[in-house]
This record gives sequence, C-alpha cells and structure tokens, in this order.
Amino acid sequence: MAQTSYKPKEFKLSGLNGISDQTLEMHFSLYQGYVKNTNLLTEMIFELTQKKGASGKDPAYAELTRRLGFEYGGMVLHEYYFENLVAKGKGDPDKEIKQAMEKSFGGLENWQEAFTAVGEMRGVGWAILYQDPATQQLSNHFIALHQDGVPSGFKPILVMDVWEHAFMLDYKPSERGKYIEAFLVNTNWEVVNARLKNPAAARAAA
Ligand SMILES: [Fe+2]
Repeated sequence: MAQTSYKPKEFKLSGLNGISDQTLEMHFSLYQGYVKNTNLLTEMIFELTQKKGASGKDPAYAELTRRLGFEYGGMVLHEYYFENLVAKGKGDPDKEIKQAMEKSFGGLENWQEAFTAVGEMRGVGWAILYQDPATQQLSNHFIALHQDGVPSGFKPILVMDVWEHAFMLDYKPSERGKYIEAFLVNTNWEVVNARLKNPAAARAAA
C-alpha cells in the first residue's frame, strides 16, 4: 500500500482574543474529520483503481472523486487557517508584504478593508489572500465550501474560515464582522510574512 495517510496536526491556540477555546475544540474535531475522510476516500479510490474499476459512468466512482476536492480542501485550508492564528497576534506585516499590498491594493489599509468585505460575503466558505507565484500579484478570493473558486497554483498567504461553525458559539449569525475583527487581532504575521517569501508556501510539516 503506497498511499499517503495524513495525520491530523496539533495546534496550540488556547487563549485567542474573541475566539473561544470551546469553538477551537469543536473546530479541531471538524478538521480531524476532514483528515479522516481524505484518507478514507483516497483509499477507496485507490482500491477501485487497482481493480480497474475507475469509470466516469459509475456513479459510485464519480461521487468518490467529486468528494475528494471537498475533503482535501477542508483538511488543507484548516491547516493554513490554524497555522496563521496565534493568541493576541504576533509580529506585523513586514516590508515585503506591505510593498506587495501597496502594489496590489493601494496599501495595507485598503487590503484589510477588502479582505474584511470578502469575509462578510454571504454564504459559507473562506476568505483567502492569494499570491500568483508567476507575477507576485496579490488578490483576495472567496472560496465557497472548500473547493469552489480556488485559483490553481496560487499560494495561500492568509486564510480565514468564514463558515458559521468558526464563530457561531461566540457570536450571532449576524455578527460575522466581529469574528473577522477577532481573527485579524489574532493573525500571526510572522507566518504570513514567511509564506509570501517561501516559493512553495508549503504548510508546516506535521
Ligand atoms: Fe472550519
């Protein structure tokens, strides 16, 4: 068996401003579910492929494959999200990211307003600051669910979960703005700055 089996990562995030430990506990267990289902789907698809059972006309094979983007996306984006959080925030946007934001958004403040606006969009998903590695252009994106709207090959620089589970224990459904403010207070800029410079922008190893 040559399949990669992912292991859930551990994140020590207790004491965030405005995002309770109770929310984090629930959120970690949702994340672990994505890791489990990514492994399960990968295994099932591998077995079908081994048995020459891959067929786009087979609804079972098609549905397993369709779900792969959802489960992988859920696993990977949660890892980026938890990694770019730290209690009360850490560091500041450095010179390189400020320059990139000046060029792409007309400044840090403009970027933050735009990122907040993307986070407040209706529907569940993610607000993500991406960099196009080919041009270094930055852009904010709304990713519906975990997979719809991902610009292939772009590097995630800052990832914010705006599914309701990310804030509903702490805020009312109409208070997503307050959660976004809390998220920005807890942003680990040291991680964000490093992602911008890392050519691969790999997630931290487990
Ligand atoms: Fe989430």
